[in-house]
Formats: sequence, structure tokens, C-alpha cells
Amino acid sequence: MALGTRTYQTVKLEHEQGITWVILNRPEKRNAMNPTMHFEMLDVLDQLEADPDTKVMVLTGAGEAWCGGQDLKEFFRELDDKPIERARASRAAQQWRWHRLFTFPKPTIAMVNGYAFGGAFTQLIACDFAIAAEDAIFGLSEVNWGIFPGGLVSRVLADAMTYRDAMYYIMTGEPFDGRKAAEMRLVTKAVPRDRLREETVQLAQKLLDKNPHVLRAAKEVYKACRTMDYWQAEEYLAAKGVALQHTDPEGGRSKGIRQFIDEKRYRPGFSAYSRED
Ligand code: COA
Repeated sequence: MALGTRTYQTVKLEHEQGITWVILNRPEKRNAMNPTMHFEMLDVLDQLEADPDTKVMVLTGAGEAWCGGQDLKEFFRELDDKPIERARASRAAQQWRWHRLFTFPKPTIAMVNGYAFGGAFTQLIACDFAIAAEDAIFGLSEVNWGIFPGGLVSRVLADAMTYRDAMYYIMTGEPFDGRKAAEMRLVTKAVPRDRLREETVQLAQKLLDKNPHVLRAAKEVYKACRTMDYWQAEEYLAAKGVALQHTDPEGGRSKGIRQFIDEKRYRPGFSAYSRED
């Protein structure tokens, strides 16, 4: 599938009213991530970051899987005696699934349509939101095939699961469904499979109504200040607040205050200011 002049072997892109659907596309291998997919996803994120038609990005999978994790054959076994290729593929894998996706400047939604195993938890947790089919199957299956959750999985689990839940699933390798993932707050919510796309679009539309510059800053600061101490966070948030007032081309803050205080046009407690004027 092409974005501009580019074509990808392992990823398909679809655009619809501000939403770009990024579809991992190796359904015959349950969308397991081979090195080609990692290199292509880095390029996809470069393109979408600069693409004015992409306002919200949804990450999903073709066929019955969301992502079957790293490709045990092409990413693991076939690179065991190729240290340079292994290092390149690993770097690309961490780059797109965590560093780039976690800080992607536009809202990201993981739409989990089916199997999500092992390494797939990295991009699941990096996305701002995750909506799962109630019957999607998740699993930290690494112990079942002789490794522990590596890459960055063990680290990012600490951001998204409780200690008890993470220890249980890391050490038993037991699968769980979308309902359980929602109960543990690993995903934002789980919905019946036939409503998955509709619910995802509804969430995307909520985000499309808001000032994108403010949304970008909101996710950046929340994600960045989670690991700062209080003094650093206070300084950082103050500086980013001033920066946003100067870089927001919509002038959202003054518009928002004017429409509420002077014009009594809306109540910020219940809705957003009008971006029309
Ligand atoms: N790596 C490499 N190949 C994989 C894969 C992976 N992670 N997941 C699936 N595949 C391949 C299978 O080898 C098979 O290939 P083949 O048709 O050439 O034999 C094909 O995808 C279909 O898999 P299959 O097991 O027959 O499908 P299924 O629908 O019965 O089961 C899964 C799907 C995802 C439950 C099962 O494939 C599985 O357990 N995969 C491994 C998941 C995992 O542990 N991932 C963690 C990696 S970090």
C-alpha cells in the first residue's frame, strides 16, 4: 500500500476523515513482527508524523490477529548468527514500538482485533488508548517458549499493569481475554467485536474535535513528567505551558477563556470551546 510514493510489504494504510488506519499486514503469520515490518513501521511513523491528513492514528491488524509478537523464525532464530542484522532489527523494533510511538505527536489508538502476544505489548502500551474486542486474546507467552518478556516488555509492563497482575501473567504465560484486559486497566475498554470499529471511530472523533496542538502538548507533558521528581515537573510544566501559549496557532487558551468568561458560550466543564471563530 502506498503513502505518497511509498509502498510497504508488511503494513497497509487506509485514510478516512482525519483517521489513518495502520494495519499490520502479515495475516498468514498472525502479524508477527519480522525485521521488514520493524523497518517499514519506522518509515510509516516518519510519514504519518508529517502527513497533514493524519490527525489520529489507529494501529490494528489484518485478519484474526492484532499482532502475534516478534517473529520467532525471522526475528529470533534467523538472526542468531547475524549480529549486525540483529542489532539493526532490534534498534528499529524498539524505536518504532516505544520511543517513536510513545511520543508520537498525534493521538494514537490501539484497536486490538485479535491475538496480542509477547512483544506486541510494547506498542499496545505505547499507544495513548487501547480498545479491544472482548474476545481478543492477550498473553505474555514468552515463558512458554523459553525466554522472559524482553526487549522493553518487562519495563513497560510496570507502567500499565499492577505488580500482582504483571507477575501472574509473566510467570504463568496464561492467556486472557479483552474483558480481563479492561478489568485490569491494561486497555481503555473492551467492546463486543461487532462494535470495535465504531467505538474506535467514536473515540477518534472526540479527539478530532479538540485543538491538536493542545492535545499534543497534553500527552507529551503527562508522559514526560511521570518519571520526574516534583521540582523538575513543576519547572517543566510551567515552561511547557508558556511555550504552548506561544506556539499554539489557534490561540486556544485565550479563545477558551473569552468564550466562557466574556461570551458565556459554553461551559468548559462539559465541552470544548468552539474552534470555528
Ligand atoms: N513468530 C513466527 N511465526 C508465527 C508467530 C510468531 N510469533 N505467530 C504465528 N506464526 C506463524 C505460525 O508459525 C504459522 O506459520 P505457518 O502457516 O507457516 O506454519 C502461522 O503463523 C499461523 O500460526 P498458527 O499457530 O497455525 O495459527 P493459530 O491461529 O492456530 O494460532 C497463535 C495463533 C498466535 C495463538 C499462535 O500462532 C502462537 O502461539 N504464536 C506465537 C505467539 C507468541 O508466543 N508470540 C510471542 C513472541 S515474542
